[in-house]
Amino acid sequence: MAAIGTTPLPDRVWVVTGATSGIGKATALGLARLGGTVVLACRDATRGGEAQQEIVRESKNPKVTLMIVDLASQASIVSFAEEFTQDYRRLDALVNNAGVFTRERMTTPDGLELQFAVNYLGGFLLSHLLLDLLLASTPARIVNVSSSAHKGATIDFDDLQGERGYKGSKAYSQSKLAQILFTVEYGRRLAGTGVTVNAVHPGVIKTNLGADGSSAVVRFVRMFFKSPAKGAETPIFLVASPTVANLSGQYFSNRQVTVPSRQAQDPAVARRLYDVSVKLAGLGADESRGPPS
Ligand SMILES: NC(=O)c1ccc[n+]([C@@H]2O[C@H](COP(=O)([O-])OP(=O)(O)OC[C@H]3O[C@@H](n4cnc5c(N)ncnc54)[C@H](OP(=O)(O)O)[C@@H]3O)[C@@H](O)[C@H]2O)c1
Repeated sequence: MAAIGTTPLPDRVWVVTGATSGIGKATALGLARLGGTVVLACRDATRGGEAQQEIVRESKNPKVTLMIVDLASQASIVSFAEEFTQDYRRLDALVNNAGVFTRERMTTPDGLELQFAVNYLGGFLLSHLLLDLLLASTPARIVNVSSSAHKGATIDFDDLQGERGYKGSKAYSQSKLAQILFTVEYGRRLAGTGVTVNAVHPGVIKTNLGADGSSAVVRFVRMFFKSPAKGAETPIFLVASPTVANLSGQYFSNRQVTVPSRQAQDPAVARRLYDVSVKLAGLGADESRGPPS
């Protein structure tokens, strides 16, 4: 981990969502190697248990635990947050990494389009519900694993759930743009609190994402994608490096602040999406939760 310029951090507690494979698993492994407690927030107990065993074995850090959460279900996210705040006294970083790509439109038990719900709104709700603990643990960090795929996307406020003419890649890009706008808005609201929030493009990485049913050409191109360990470098850097301690509301690539698309920087769009998301996440009636305005 010396390459990332971080020292051992044995007292820290980190949560990584979607840690069964790909970038999330590699991020959890890298953090486990720093010696802190890593909570793998996964939807499947079997896959999560296998990842946990592998990470403990490879990192030689026994403080890797598994907690179940399905980011497609708001009830599951609420249960996870309640259980987590009962079991843990601190949270130093939350990595909102879990993600899906679906070609066909699918919906969640809450009636939301799946990519919007898992890639964006689930992390939004989880961040809200864990914010008090993050604020009690400052300095603390939220890291949103977004993508350069946000470029060219817009937030379609008239059809946020893709009910009219769905295209999988468009919904994916919109969800990744939403994560950056969430980063911008949360960064603004949390300025001066000691909780930072940043987004990251991890690179083009060979993982399970989009692998199902891909064409022969795509399968061939995928051979040249980078490793999950490479994709985890900037997320780990944003969780653990002192060099970014005072940076918030930013978008990173290759451990550098990078300029996202124009719409991703639009504060009016960020505020509007925040307000809509509070309602969609079922947080409307609970003004006491979440960051200041
Ligand atoms: N790969 C790339 O080139 C690339 C580029 C830019 C950004 N990203 C982003 O990187 C993140 C990680 O993706 P990846 O490439 O590492 O793909 P991946 O290997 O498919 O990993 C996705 C992870 O998310 C989990 N997940 C999916 N749906 C979930 C749900 N409803 N609840 C909880 N967890 C769920 C998966 O768990 P299961 O094992 O249960 O399915 C898995 O652990 C995503 O946000 C993705 O958008 C990836």
